[in-house]
Amino acid sequence: MALPTSVKLFEMAPRDGLQNEPGNSVPTATKIALVERLANAGITHIEAASFVSPKWVPQMGDAAEVMAGIKRQPGVVYSALTPNLKGLENALTVGVEEVAVFGAASEAFSQKNINCSIAESLTRFEPVLDRARDVGVRVRGYVSCVLGCPYEGEIAPHKVAEVAKALYEMGCYEVSLGDTIGVGTPLSAKRMIEAVQQQVPIEFLAAHFHDTYGMALANLYAVMEEGVSVIDTATAGLGGCPYAKGASGNVATEDVLYLLEGLGIETGIDLQAVIDTGYWITSELGRKPSAKVALAKGPSR
Ligand code: HMG
Ligand code: MG
Repeated sequence: MALPTSVKLFEMAPRDGLQNEPGNSVPTATKIALVERLANAGITHIEAASFVSPKWVPQMGDAAEVMAGIKRQPGVVYSALTPNLKGLENALTVGVEEVAVFGAASEAFSQKNINCSIAESLTRFEPVLDRARDVGVRVRGYVSCVLGCPYEGEIAPHKVAEVAKALYEMGCYEVSLGDTIGVGTPLSAKRMIEAVQQQVPIEFLAAHFHDTYGMALANLYAVMEEGVSVIDTATAGLGGCPYAKGASGNVATEDVLYLLEGLGIETGIDLQAVIDTGYWITSELGRKPSAKVALAKGPSR
């Protein structure tokens, strides 16, 4: 299949990127500034916060303040994770227009991450979807561990397809497929997409690949050949999941933009502005971007 002519990037740095930072070390104002800088760079979909239990993920404890503090730009979607009704109700108090529920293709990961089985999680998501529909809020769905699990190892593609189908049929407008620990390779990624697209049309699928083994760009190319045209990325390659020890961040926005530009695929995003944002946020965190393209090009002066 031909590569897509345009690709939508969904930016994860403020949520997936920062959720693994210790305690509540990142000031609310820094989180807000990060979201605003990303929007200024031309990114139109930003996962800005997470309405999860602050006991589980302390760094996301200021989700309401972050969402309320962002100076919103027209045409930009600011989304947030909401694992249950409580999360959704909290998110609604600060006027979200889009939220996301997150499940897994692995029983063990589901237990560790959201403290329930896959079946229980799907039952828990139903009222979130119902309430969101009532108030006109769009819901995205995630499936974690689509190419491997830190506790169970290999995950069968049909298991991923089953959970993706359940989320889609429940009303998720898009299902994002997470290689949570970044262990996939192009062949396993392709096989997984082939199985999932038999249950969910390819235009409703997104690739959410972490780059632990350095395979994310190759895997993205492989799934774009299958027709995937929505990609989750994190500026500077920030992040990791608190319940997937050792997993590194999402594939870097800078690296994906460089790949897409080289392929002549439109995104409407300013690569240099993203690079500068990556240098700024990593300096706030006391390190350097892990994006190869950012390191090669450097910040603008
Ligand atoms: P639980 O303990 O089973 O929930 O946690 P509960 O309903 O029994 O409630 C226990 C306590 O939590 C209660 O407080 C609730 O009020 C509170 P207490 O009475 O003890 O004081 N609580 C909440 N507080 C704030 N917001 C809420 C909320 N819900 C309950 N929404 C729960 C279940 C899902 C809440 C918990 O397991 C949790 O928060 N997990 C979050 C884990 C997480 O954030 N993981 C990282 C994000 S997922 C990810 O990174 C993967 C992804 O990137 C894709 C990929 O890479 O694969 C998306
Ligand atoms: Mg993730």
